[in-house]
Amino acid sequence: MDLIIKNGTIVTAKDMYQADIGVKNGKVILIGKDLDHSDATMVDATDQLVLPGAIDANTHLGMPLDNIQSADDYESGTRAAACGGTTTIFDYVIQQPGEKIMDTLRKRKQLCEKEACIDYSFHATLTDVNPEILKDMEEAVQFGINQFKVFMIYSKEGMATDDGTLVKAMIRAKELGARLAVHAENPYIINMHTEEFLAEGKVHPWYHYQSRQEYVETEAVKRAVYWATSFNTPLYIPHLACKEGLDEISRARNEGYDILAETCPHYLYFTNEVYKYDGAQNYVCSPPIKGPESQDALWNGIKRGDVSIVSTDHCPFQSHEKNAGLDDYTKIPNGVMGIENMYPYMLSEANKGRLSFNKVVEVCSSNPAQFFGCSPQKGTIAIGSDADLVVYDPEKTFVVRPENMHSNVDHTIWDGVEFSGYPVKTFSRGKLVYDRETFLGEKGWGQFIKRQPLG
Ligand code: URP
Ligand code: ZN
Repeated sequence: MDLIIKNGTIVTAKDMYQADIGVKNGKVILIGKDLDHSDATMVDATDQLVLPGAIDANTHLGMPLDNIQSADDYESGTRAAACGGTTTIFDYVIQQPGEKIMDTLRKRKQLCEKEACIDYSFHATLTDVNPEILKDMEEAVQFGINQFKVFMIYSKEGMATDDGTLVKAMIRAKELGARLAVHAENPYIINMHTEEFLAEGKVHPWYHYQSRQEYVETEAVKRAVYWATSFNTPLYIPHLACKEGLDEISRARNEGYDILAETCPHYLYFTNEVYKYDGAQNYVCSPPIKGPESQDALWNGIKRGDVSIVSTDHCPFQSHEKNAGLDDYTKIPNGVMGIENMYPYMLSEANKGRLSFNKVVEVCSSNPAQFFGCSPQKGTIAIGSDADLVVYDPEKTFVVRPENMHSNVDHTIWDGVEFSGYPVKTFSRGKLVYDRETFLGEKGWGQFIKRQPLG
């Protein structure tokens, strides 16, 4: 055996029990009492929890946007992830104009092979769904991805998908054993508000929220759900932020439709108040953070199981890039950070009693593994699973500061937030990659996770 984690309390989505974990060649090979082996590295986890590493199913690392790109590349993003207890990421790669999906995927995989510090896979964002792309989706599924994404928004940028094309992509994804993710906001209403606001000199980031209020997202979610239920195709709503959209998803799920909702830590912690104050530009993301009613609904959705996944939509930009839109909110690059904060935040909420630790493991690890076709290799602690393990100290208090984060970004919206409990060690396939605030991993360690089509 290479590694034994002793005396910890193992937490999976279903169980919580005391046992030792034995690891060999990156896999969990034994779970039991009083494990011992002379050659193994011993880690004492007395009074600590041992959890499966989180899977961040929504990241945008090194994402090109106009003439800049998101501020974390595969190296810094996965380094930060590891330091927050995340051991796998699924990154949304975006098809560039005229590009074939397989070219996008291969290029990104080559980058990850050099840069990623933890395991990774991709979802493919389609910006130009034409007959050739619909055909090529098959090769992408064989390559090992089982989710495609389209945007209802970004019409001015030429990346929006109209309803007819969206339905074609939904049907094609289903045929191939894949799921379509839809970025659900109504571009026409956003554009209408934006034109009015700019003409009236309303340029503060508050108007980013005002141009994309709850109804902008709700209508689009309802439309996506309507098409998915009409054509009986699997649907994924990433970064869900609004109550009435969730109500619609819950209704469809109750009727038996295969519809999954994902929300993000920033929607669970902050409210739209953040857009009123100094630094509002740093919270600009799409969909924007909504009001307290939506926040409560998202928490309730997690508890009842209608929000299946919590992931970050990590898409940070540096302060100077965010500040470039202080005189015109439409120039603020969209996206916020969270890759290092998701698991600590959700676990801290469990530690304070808001939800169970099992539930956090379910939404941050085992559900993404299951729905994205890599369970039980990922998402649990079981014999044969990858030894992606997090040792969590429920007594450790941690206050987020930009200087104690491990990403490349010069600020964080989580600055000053205090967590009750914190990950103290992260293992990626048995290798210690993070130990008490220090990153110990290496770029190039991460492996591509080939995911299975939907069953
Ligand atoms: O603001 C966001 N969410 N940026 C990332 C790209 C996207 O739209 O998902
Ligand atoms: Zn999106």
